[in-house]
Amino acid sequence: MFFIIETIELPCGYYFKYKAMDKNDREYTNGEITVFWKPAKCIHATTCYRELIEVFNPRKRPWVNMNGAPTEEIIRVVKLCPTQALSFKYNKDITDNGKSKEPTIDSAHEIPELRVMKDGPLVFNGNFEITGTDGQLLKPMKIYSLCRCGASDKLPYCDGTHRKTGFKGK
Ligand code: SF4
Ligand code: FES
Repeated sequence: MFFIIETIELPCGYYFKYKAMDKNDREYTNGEITVFWKPAKCIHATTCYRELIEVFNPRKRPWVNMNGAPTEEIIRVVKLCPTQALSFKYNKDITDNGKSKEPTIDSAHEIPELRVMKDGPLVFNGNFEITGTDGQLLKPMKIYSLCRCGASDKLPYCDGTHRKTGFKGK
């Protein structure tokens, strides 16, 4: 296990550093690819298991079964994850020294996409420039997950609170 320190800016303007890979992060491999899961980024949008329950089954342990579907099908579903909690890398691209083991996030859409998540946030995927209510641009990110319910403690970002409050939104 290794750690990368990243800095992120909070909506209030403060910065803080966090470990991009923490002890809860998980890796699953079928020998051809490795799927990385970052639970801190997972908003439980259910996309992965609605698409491919044979691989992503939250009722099972481990919850990811890399033998449940062909590699290309797993990649297809990993790329649908709205927050990049899931990502993948081909094992041949992972070096032994571990330095490049952090997955390259390569799923930013060439055509920008805005997805309205049922009962959840707005997910912007692509090269967006988003201006906050203070008139300042939000920190550039490949994926923005913006709160639609108003209950997040990290506004304008979704922090998963919509699930606790039972927010309904088509
Ligand atoms: S698709 Fe991504 S965010 Fe949604 S439940 Fe799966 S891992 Fe979590
Ligand atoms: S939409 Fe997720 S916390 Fe509001």
